[in-house]
Amino acid sequence: MVKSRAMPPTAPVPPFDPLSPEVLADPYPAYARLRMSDPVHWGIPHTRAGAWYVFRHADIASLLRDPRLSRRRPATGRGVPSGRPISEPYRGFLRMMAQQVGFQNTVGHARLRAVMGPLLSPRAVAGVVPRVEWVARKLLQDIEDQHSMDVLNEYALPLVLRVLAELQGVPESSFEELRAWIGVISSVSSSSPKEELLRANRAVAEYGQLVEGLAGEAGGSPQGTVLAGMLAARELGQVSQTEFVANLLALLDAGTQTTADFITNSVLVLLSHQDQLKLLREDPQLLGYAVQELLRFESPVQIVGRWATESFVFQGKGIERGQVVYLVLGSANRDPSWVSDPDRLDLKRKLDRTAAFGGGTHYCLGAPLARLIGGKALEILLQWKGSLSLQTSRLIWRPAFGFRGLTELRVSW
Ligand code: HEM
Repeated sequence: MVKSRAMPPTAPVPPFDPLSPEVLADPYPAYARLRMSDPVHWGIPHTRAGAWYVFRHADIASLLRDPRLSRRRPATGRGVPSGRPISEPYRGFLRMMAQQVGFQNTVGHARLRAVMGPLLSPRAVAGVVPRVEWVARKLLQDIEDQHSMDVLNEYALPLVLRVLAELQGVPESSFEELRAWIGVISSVSSSSPKEELLRANRAVAEYGQLVEGLAGEAGGSPQGTVLAGMLAARELGQVSQTEFVANLLALLDAGTQTTADFITNSVLVLLSHQDQLKLLREDPQLLGYAVQELLRFESPVQIVGRWATESFVFQGKGIERGQVVYLVLGSANRDPSWVSDPDRLDLKRKLDRTAAFGGGTHYCLGAPLARLIGGKALEILLQWKGSLSLQTSRLIWRPAFGFRGLTELRVSW
């Protein structure tokens, strides 16, 4: 029987809080404890009335494919709290974001994936390799004389943003604006001050004007770009006007910080595991496996959220319609029932998949591109200098719910 709302499930262990300083610094001991003691756990609610956290790999794999969980909040009504009022500037922003593939379900979702999937398939994105190499080398060349850099802000972010922007045909003259817009859009939430909400609305509108301008340019958008593919889909009536802009934006929004964090986290992990770094330097062929293992070991996306669209019992816990269920991918990746000795970095592990990109119908559309950009960025950085050392004495992990990324990572040579 489903437990009633008046009596929230009693937590046998202190409630898990992904934003507590200990968990931010190192979430893996808490994950391990909860996988053992309370794998479907009622934890700190983030911004809502309460939330479930699921820690075991098998449970997460099953819930990612469970139709009773949705990316969309069920309509209010029986059993669903009405939630906090949403301020007007945020409504406009949310209306736009709701058109993104990541927030769609069922038919609309399948339609958008059918359009976007082929544009991001391994074959479609293979052509970016020379560009990634060129941009990576150029960035490193420009800062060589500094003898140190912030890997996140001086290498990974500019590299990823540039490659993703070029896939949309965005000219170099607009890169800085684009970086600012993405920064504003990805940091805003319903609790942000009104000025920030208005800035996010403005950023979305300005981005829309930019892509519309590119789409309308004489001669059309560059062939083979994601922009050209989305434009063709719009002309065929497969995506609406708003979906066109919202989903081009989705690629930048979902792909930039995550892939930059992947590169940065990987540099940190490799420089902290010199034996494994040596293996990779001696045998560059290991890179493909190394990318999978690094994604498993320090995933940029630690948690994904779903809404329960009906009440049901899962592993003995009553999950009610309207409640939020967080699937802790970072814990799935360290589950010993799925991978042996999970807290050991082993670049020779032959994993064909990790939980880092989720699973089921919302599996990351950009996974091939992320692996490709991330792998090349690491390869070029490691080839460039045989002796990189960590300079950061204190690591600061951004308090971004569900994500794992640093504020900066300084290395020297
Ligand atoms: C290492 C880098 C990346 C990681 C770790 C990552 C992780 C994820 C995860 C876990 C999801 C599933 C979200 C959920 O189930 O709620 C997801 C979805 C998505 N990702 Fe990525 N991602 C990365 C890079 C990218 C890139 C480069 C792009 C595109 C350029 C991208 C585009 C998307 C999109 C559009 C979705 C939504 C798919 C859907 O809902 O059907 N991602 N990503």
